[in-house]
Amino acid sequence: MLRILSVFTLLISSFFFSQAKLNLIPYPQKIEFQTGEFIIPKILLLHPNLPKEETEYFKKRLSSSLKFKNTKKGNSQLLYFQLAKSDSKNKNDEFYSLKISSDKIVIESYTNQGYFLAIQTLIQLFETHKNGKIPSLKIDDQPKFSWRGMHLDVCRHFFTVEEVKKYIDYLAMYKLNTFHWHLTDDQGWRIEIKKYPKLTDISSKRKQSMIGAYVENTFDGKPYGPYFYTQDQIKEVIQYAQDRHITVVPEIEMPGHALAALSAYPELACTTGPFEAATKWGVFDDVFCPKDETFTFLENVLDEVMQLFPSQYIHIGGDECPKTRWKECAHCQGLIKKNNLKDEHGLQSYFIQRIEKYVNSKGRKIIGWDEILEGGLAPNAAVMSWTGIKGGIEAAKTSHFAVMTPGAYCYFDHYQGDPQTEPNAFGGFTPLDKVYSYNPIPAELNAEQAKYILGVQANLWTEYILDFKQVEYMIFPRLFALSEVGWGTSNPENYKKFEDRVVEHFKILDKMNINYAKSIYNINGKVIPRVGGVSYRLSTSQKPEGIRFTADGSIPTANSQTYDVPIPVSQTMTIKSAYFEGGLKSAVSTQEFTTSKTTGKNITLEQQPSENYSFGGAFTLVDGIIGNVKQLGKMWLGFQGKDVVAIIDLDEKTKFSEVYFNTLENIGSWIHLAKSAQVFISDDGIDFKQIKEIGKNEIQSSKGKVKLNVGNQTSKYIKIKIENAGTIPVGNPGADSKAWLFVDEIGAN
Ligand code: ACM
Ligand code: ZN
Repeated sequence: MLRILSVFTLLISSFFFSQAKLNLIPYPQKIEFQTGEFIIPKILLLHPNLPKEETEYFKKRLSSSLKFKNTKKGNSQLLYFQLAKSDSKNKNDEFYSLKISSDKIVIESYTNQGYFLAIQTLIQLFETHKNGKIPSLKIDDQPKFSWRGMHLDVCRHFFTVEEVKKYIDYLAMYKLNTFHWHLTDDQGWRIEIKKYPKLTDISSKRKQSMIGAYVENTFDGKPYGPYFYTQDQIKEVIQYAQDRHITVVPEIEMPGHALAALSAYPELACTTGPFEAATKWGVFDDVFCPKDETFTFLENVLDEVMQLFPSQYIHIGGDECPKTRWKECAHCQGLIKKNNLKDEHGLQSYFIQRIEKYVNSKGRKIIGWDEILEGGLAPNAAVMSWTGIKGGIEAAKTSHFAVMTPGAYCYFDHYQGDPQTEPNAFGGFTPLDKVYSYNPIPAELNAEQAKYILGVQANLWTEYILDFKQVEYMIFPRLFALSEVGWGTSNPENYKKFEDRVVEHFKILDKMNINYAKSIYNINGKVIPRVGGVSYRLSTSQKPEGIRFTADGSIPTANSQTYDVPIPVSQTMTIKSAYFEGGLKSAVSTQEFTTSKTTGKNITLEQQPSENYSFGGAFTLVDGIIGNVKQLGKMWLGFQGKDVVAIIDLDEKTKFSEVYFNTLENIGSWIHLAKSAQVFISDDGIDFKQIKEIGKNEIQSSKGKVKLNVGNQTSKYIKIKIENAGTIPVGNPGADSKAWLFVDEIGAN
């Protein structure tokens, strides 16, 4: 009896759910459906007490489909506002309730910001109920996190005031509330500072820019700039953001990422220069020298910045500051001695603490990237945790606030689909479902410590982002996932339902002529081992029967073979696949295979790759796919400061005469070719005999595509040791840090 009853309830609730599917992003905390519905009228009658500016925004957003009429007191109205009752326990300033019944809509909130958030919900309901009816309901809603941010780098590529305003609009549409404006960097200084006119005359320009992806020393030869925002333009943007209840947090980078500033004011460096704004991407050794005149300069800059920006937090950068110059600078070394600092990391801490004191004295707080933890955190500083989550954990455990923006989940300059079908990106692989799976509260924190996690942010660095259409492409639809993660209603188990809502919101973006990535339609390929080799499994988050593929190199069409079971990869072949629903919906994915005697065999690694570059684990090295340079976050394993020692079990004694592997070089990103490589063989997997050794010259002359002639060999095991370049030598970006070694595909023929 009980069983029957529960089946019956299940039916009822699923009936209600299907009837009441709301296409809202972020999904609200609480929705109660009621009987009846609101019929969207031709003219919406507005109560006179509605908050003015926010209501103007609302009218503008819906002006193409709806008319509005302001009414007087006593008239009948459809849209009301009232102050929420003060039962404010567990409710925050951003709380709102939205009640829709057959004859009216009532919004309650404590603040205009709450009202504005309700307006966004209402706009989405109007936009996604094109049949003209909205079910009667009551939404009680508020965000979990108070910092829901997006960052934009305007230094590597500049975006106009109009474009920045659009960006802010996108944040507002999806209830984000913080815009982190990255205004200064090595490649350009973008904010007018009245006291230092050379920052706009000189630092806002660079001679040329690096072009293409990951190809060093290839330049476009075109002068870039002057590009900067005047103080009037900055004020205009801040006002525009305020009207949308978005806080603008400015970032002024120090002590590193300072080349553009030094190009105008070389006296602020450790050496005499001359300097010029960087034309390459990366990290550079010339940084601010902590002398009194540097602090005077930065304090004057910050004075003007704080006068312009009303935000509680001022972002002072702090990341990626090489200590190369400080180590050799008499002033820096003297300062270390005089202040009893431990080393150059202590000097970084001294630098940040001195700036913090100044910013605090003006009633503001600093926030900085992870590296402000180096040598001890300034007393009131907040940490923006980007290299992972460790920075955020350390901050929270020591009662400092933190904003979580770990690269693996929150860097929107990473690829979001198969790199081969995407425009050039920085590297990495951060698809929509990965962003959606992120939980900003690290598991390591207890409830008390978790209160120090202010929220979550995604960053958009623009080295490879050439125009605003590409900005849109990189943030959408990942901004949807961020929005829901920050709101606190994401649940990775419901990813599929979220994706259904994403597809509905694509229609809103289409209507607004906003560009977005269609990567969710793409076919995902995964190599899986099978006896004697590998197979290629295709999947899509859409309907599986939509996948068509070819194995002869031709472009798939709606009439090509329908994908059914994993495709055996038997030789060197190319598989092309695409998603069809009506017509072609996705990019065509192309995967070339180059199999060898190691393909699909068991492989073990003595040391594991870094988490951000571990893709499919050791199997990646024998999956029959030779990674190309665009696929840094896929297909390649990355090891920082570690050697690769791999043992491949060929199952039985096997003949071969060549062993090959690939390794990358990108000095600007701290990626160095291997120093040496050795090949060993064994029949028992225990005693190995070395059969080949090569040095750096041979690896360099092969440009990383290393083919080793090992003579005629027969063995069951092959072991290969590929030696990391070790500590990055002085004179290179990232000097004294551990070099990255990237390796893919170890084969034998
Ligand atoms: C950063 O990505 N360098 C903060
Ligand atoms: Zn110095």
